Amino acid sequence: MRKIIHLNYDWKYLADFREEFIDTGFDDSGFETVMLPHANIETPYNNFSDKLLQFKSCYRRRLKIGEKDQGKRVILHFEGVMAYALVYLNGQIICEHKGGYTPFKCDITGQINYGGDNLLVVMVDSTERPDIPPFGHVVDYLTYGGMYREVWIELVSEIYIENMFVKTRDVLAESKKLDIGLYMKNHTGQSHKLNLQFSLLKDDREVLAFGCEKQLTEGNVAVLDVMQAVREVLLWDNICPNLYDLIAEIKMNNRIVDRFTVRFGFREARFRSDGFYLNGRRMKLRGLNRHQAFPYVGYAMPKSAQYKDAEILKNELGVNVVRLSHYPQSKHFLDRCDELGLLVFEEIPGWQHIGDAEWQDVAVKNVEEMIKRDWNRPSIILWGVRINESQDNDEFYKKTNNIAKALDDTRQTGGVRNFAGSHLFEDVYTYNDFIHRGGDKALCVPRAVTKKKVPYLVTEHNGHMFPTKKFDNEAGRVEHCLRHLKVLESMYSAPDISGAIGWCMFDYNTHKDFGSGDGICYHGVTDMFRIPKEAAAVYASQQDGRPVLEVASSMDIGEREAGKLDTVYVFTNCDYLKLYKNGVYIGTYYPAREVFAHVPHPPVIITDFIGDLIEKNEAMTPKDAGHAKKILYAIMKYGDKELPLRYKIRMLRLMLKYRMSLQKAVSTFAPYVTNWGCESLEYEFEGYIDHKAVIKVKKGPFSSGDLLVVPDKDGLFEDETYDVCRVVIKHTDESGNTLTYSNEAVSLEIEGEGEIIGPKNIALIGGSRAFWVKSTGKKGNVKVTIRSDRFEPKIVEFKVEKK
Ligand code: GAL
Repeated sequence: MRKIIHLNYDWKYLADFREEFIDTGFDDSGFETVMLPHANIETPYNNFSDKLLQFKSCYRRRLKIGEKDQGKRVILHFEGVMAYALVYLNGQIICEHKGGYTPFKCDITGQINYGGDNLLVVMVDSTERPDIPPFGHVVDYLTYGGMYREVWIELVSEIYIENMFVKTRDVLAESKKLDIGLYMKNHTGQSHKLNLQFSLLKDDREVLAFGCEKQLTEGNVAVLDVMQAVREVLLWDNICPNLYDLIAEIKMNNRIVDRFTVRFGFREARFRSDGFYLNGRRMKLRGLNRHQAFPYVGYAMPKSAQYKDAEILKNELGVNVVRLSHYPQSKHFLDRCDELGLLVFEEIPGWQHIGDAEWQDVAVKNVEEMIKRDWNRPSIILWGVRINESQDNDEFYKKTNNIAKALDDTRQTGGVRNFAGSHLFEDVYTYNDFIHRGGDKALCVPRAVTKKKVPYLVTEHNGHMFPTKKFDNEAGRVEHCLRHLKVLESMYSAPDISGAIGWCMFDYNTHKDFGSGDGICYHGVTDMFRIPKEAAAVYASQQDGRPVLEVASSMDIGEREAGKLDTVYVFTNCDYLKLYKNGVYIGTYYPAREVFAHVPHPPVIITDFIGDLIEKNEAMTPKDAGHAKKILYAIMKYGDKELPLRYKIRMLRLMLKYRMSLQKAVSTFAPYVTNWGCESLEYEFEGYIDHKAVIKVKKGPFSSGDLLVVPDKDGLFEDETYDVCRVVIKHTDESGNTLTYSNEAVSLEIEGEGEIIGPKNIALIGGSRAFWVKSTGKKGNVKVTIRSDRFEPKIVEFKVEKK
């Protein structure tokens, strides 16, 4: 039977490669001991050269396979090595792989010294080689380097299942079908009659068992097809992501020779020219693009960090689809998408440039590697088989489509373009639509892009059209929100647009040709640490289930052009909200459905912060109080010097009627808008769902506040490798609002079995920042102390456990 050995600890690493490193006798005591996932170099947060990552490095590891395992096939698996790997075992080359985003494996059976010492050496070339996608021209993201995903060995029998594709057919009918493709290897040199047994499980409980006999030919590889009808299974969807396991067992002469398990779901995903359908139900896709990068360590992050990103997308940002731009990403991230019901558009590596024939061969291979790795995942609804934003290349794209169709006839293909009228070999015209510039036009008309009636999905919008930093001024941050919102509104209003996937989930490090001059593209709705910018709330507020209320303003007039606190956007999924100023009720405000008629939850747009306070406080008739208010808002709008005559006349009338000098009028009414001199000014927004107050946000005067330190979890757990935990630090006021312009300096001290990823002396960026704590391979406790000059130290503790 099958046995797995994880090889993620005890690697010896050097940021260099020389031929002598492959010798079994070479003394590597000068190498650093590292764990996988590993980054070939740790980078600063920003302001570094993209060349820093581009070099060859060496990973060495000793390996033991016991004598009792002799007779088993030994398969070595690499989940991802950036960008080229040349693998040696005991001094001999055993395999090479081009491309940093897809897994590869090699059968090392013949080269193993059973019971003795074996030396595995991997030469990792992380330079941007023009023979490997996405390289050859420019790329707007860093590709990092190193053995940044896990490595493992699998010991199997002479006959074994290499892969299994469980296709679900007729899933909307009462009787559904399992169409199972078993990808077999036979090293016996003979043909065999196999007894195949299958067990279908839901939550570890068997719901169906079936079996059959099949003849395995003597050739090395074979695909065995098995068809089975099933009833009464639960469908997988974005709300109830029901997952099943299928265990396949091979028996020969009543002996179990191999057992192979895959997880899958019953679901039907279809793009049609009138939108996207999941299990026959039309749904609008609202999503974000994700790179797989993290600060400091680039791509090298283990399972829990990958899980967390999927959770942030689904639960915090409330999106229902993610595009893996622009390459296959961690299997852990995808595992979590399957579990959460987050739909995925996965695509091959590439960015605008198509290389020569050799390069194209790697891209075609990438299609195969991607599909064979991920074909059982119900979350994946579309394969991207074009190089992102590349020109037409019919021969090449016929190939990528053909191979995708040949491998998987259950899923449609897409291929991301940025121009109209492209030759379409895919099923879905997937288009990056950057037409929106803040005006009324938010998305192109699909027919104008596609030239014919075909399924259509917007795969990018915004991004570079309006880069926004967490610490930009309020007007900029609000504009960022509105641009995303207008695109969503336009998408929801157009029946022939399946969905829109915004650029992008978080800010990312990039090459010198892009970004804001510090090597960061500030295109995210969150920052690099996944801390939300205001625009995150545009997405978050479209979900139901958890109340969201984000007041996209600090309510400070000093942050506004000419001091005008005239319009405040509140991104919320509440039915309405009540506003209080210093505890006094001002008014009830409803979502602006008249402006945003199609999104699930339009924002509340507040333009009146006075309510009937003037009437109440100044003993004026309601009509006169109304006039006074209008005059005040007109002064805000036009300025006192440019006030239109009609307002001047009204003002004069009121002053005469209430016997007020100009000075008195100013001192009486100005505080309603400037709030100067007010002891303490506090706005309270109270959100209601089903007439129950469910959420409250307070905006008060500034104060010194405090540091709020929130870890994502309270323990670290090592199974196949080390674990990490993000810890978010925010400088908040007494009401929990982040103080956007705080750059507080903070130092991190760590004790026990843990390390801090990245620098230990940091400054908050736009009021917040995060760091990751990493376990070291040992059980124990970790204590992190967060110090700053102004505040009491904060302590976070973790327990580190091991499987
Ligand atoms: C697109 C590209 C993305 C990113 C984005 C920025 O053209 O596909 O990778 O560069 O622009 O908005």
